[in-house]
Amino acid sequence: MAVSNLAIVNAEISEIVSGLSEDRKQISPKYFYDERGSQLFDEITQLPEYYLTNTELGIMRDNIGEIVAMVGKQASLIEFGSGSSLKTRILLERLSELAAYVPVDISRKHLQTSAEQIREQFPDIDVLPVVADFTQAFALPEPRVMPVRNIVYFPGSTIGNFEQDMATDLLHVMYQEAGEGGALLIGVDLQKDPDIIESAYNDSAGVTAEFNLNVLQHLNRDYGANFNVDEFSHSANYDQAKGRVVLELVSQANQTFEVADAAFDIAAGEAILTEYSHKYTLDGFAAMANEAGFSVEKVWTDAKQLFSVQFLTRP
Ligand code: TRP
Repeated sequence: MAVSNLAIVNAEISEIVSGLSEDRKQISPKYFYDERGSQLFDEITQLPEYYLTNTELGIMRDNIGEIVAMVGKQASLIEFGSGSSLKTRILLERLSELAAYVPVDISRKHLQTSAEQIREQFPDIDVLPVVADFTQAFALPEPRVMPVRNIVYFPGSTIGNFEQDMATDLLHVMYQEAGEGGALLIGVDLQKDPDIIESAYNDSAGVTAEFNLNVLQHLNRDYGANFNVDEFSHSANYDQAKGRVVLELVSQANQTFEVADAAFDIAAGEAILTEYSHKYTLDGFAAMANEAGFSVEKVWTDAKQLFSVQFLTRP
C-alpha cells in the first residue's frame, strides 16, 4: 500500500515536472482538487457571478418533465464524475423507475462518500459506483434489473475543460458507454458577452483566485514544491477567437521554484497555465457531437441563452 502510493506520487511528480518544463509552463487541472480545492470549488458554484451552476439548475428544473420523458423508464443513469451535485439529485428524484445509477470517478474516496449519500437519500435505487478514468472506455457493472437503455450524464460544462480533440474523444467514449439505443444528457456553457464570462471567473469575493492559487499550495504541501504563493497572481481571460477562458497563474517577479529535485526559473509576467474553459455555440457543439457519433435530439436553454442542457442520441 505505502509502496504503491509512493509510486503514484512519483509518477505525478514527473507529470508535474514535465508540464513545468514546457515552453508554455502548465500544471494539470487535476491538482486543483485537494480537500481545500474541492471546498473552494463548491464555493465557486454559489457565487453570484458564476452563472453556470444556477442557470443549469434552472434549466433542469424548468424542463424536468420533458427530460424524464426522454430518458424513459428502466434506464441506467451513468454519471461521468462522482455525482454529489444538486443537479443529480433533481434528476434522481424524478427518475423513480431507474434500473441503476452508476457514478464513475477516478477518486475512490470521492466516489464512496457521494455513493453513500445517494444511497441514503434514494434507498430504492441500485447505486453501482465505478472507479475509473472516464477518458478511456471502461466496463459497466451489471444492475439487478436489466436496463432498457444507458443514459450518460455529464453536467457542469466539464466537457469545456477539455481541448477540442480530447473533448471529441471523450464524447466518443460516452457514445460507446451509452451503447445501442443509449443517449447522453450533457451541460454545455455557451458563447456570450465576454464581460459576463470574464466576471464569472474573476469574482469580486476572490474565491476563484484562491481556488487557482491553491494549486500551488497543494504542490507545496504534497509534492515537495516550494512556490512562493504570494508572488503569483490569478488571471482569467476570455479568448473570444478561440471561445475559451484561459486560467493562469502569473509570476509577479523573476523568481525560481523547485518541485521535488527539479529547479525552475520564471520571469516576471510569465504565466503557468492551469485550465481552459471552452464555451460553445450551439452549431459548434453539434458539429463536435456529430464527429463523436451523436446527433443532437434536443437542446434546452435559459431565457438569456447563457447555458444549454442537451440530449444527444446514437442515430
Ligand atoms: N466546468 C466548469 C467551468 O469551466 C467548472 C470549473 C472547472 C471551473 N474548473 C474550474 C470553474 C476552474 C472555475 C475555475 O466553469
